[in-house]
Amino acid sequence: MSSAISFRNVSKVTTHVLQEMKIKGEKIAMLTAYDYSFARILDSTGIDVILVGDSASNVMAGHSSTLPITLNEMIYHGVSVVRAVKRALVVVDLPFGTYQGNSKEALNSAIRIMKEAGADAVKLEGGREILESVDRILSAGIPVMGHLGLTPQSIHKFGTYVVRATNEEEASKLIDDAHLLEKAGCFAIVLEKIPAALGAKVTQSVKIPIIGIGAGGGVDGQVLVLHDMLGITMDFSPRFLRRYQNLSEEVRGAVNNYIQDVKTLDFPNEKEQY
Ligand code: KIV
Repeated sequence: MSSAISFRNVSKVTTHVLQEMKIKGEKIAMLTAYDYSFARILDSTGIDVILVGDSASNVMAGHSSTLPITLNEMIYHGVSVVRAVKRALVVVDLPFGTYQGNSKEALNSAIRIMKEAGADAVKLEGGREILESVDRILSAGIPVMGHLGLTPQSIHKFGTYVVRATNEEEASKLIDDAHLLEKAGCFAIVLEKIPAALGAKVTQSVKIPIIGIGAGGGVDGQVLVLHDMLGITMDFSPRFLRRYQNLSEEVRGAVNNYIQDVKTLDFPNEKEQY
């Protein structure tokens, strides 16, 4: 590839742009956002994809898993993000219980996300088990991003957040699922917390972009949860997480300074009042 930033001047990232990025070998940068203010900052940086992840259940609502968040809550976060974004592709997660085992309900959920939030695409967790739902959503012309490997909505089935697909059987199921999702028409797949060699193998064996979180460097792009990479959440430190800021410390410092200034009558000063 001649330039590492050849797609940064596109005015709107589409699923087609992501496909071209894979072909040209330009990595895709994706982050989560759940509100207007952060989404506006992210979009101004030229980030390729913004995911309104159901990780909102953890980092916005304080739940211990992604299961409790509702479709209405995801739509609320989606609306706030979409209102801020001009360039990035906005993908919204379908929450737990809105698409598994009932493809008609899946389609209704996806339609609500597209109509009410104004998203560009939806993301669903799982492979063969949710294929009927994926097919039905795609048949309505709604772009679908898959999600394989560690699928947090199935935490109660697995009981742990450890690395997935470390044995031959699971790895081969994951590869088959990736092919099924590609064949169905998904435009991209997120691979979460799997061995790097498997991430690279899946990436080479499908034509659609593979975006990793803890899936190594051999994939087509990376995604992180914004609050984790900014150091807002401090109680979550998996090996794959790189912290680019320690915002919780900076916010604490600023708030302590404010408290001090208020208590000592330093704030507001002459210039800060009418
Ligand atoms: O909900 C989320 O934030 C996600 C990412 C971890 C990929 O699905």
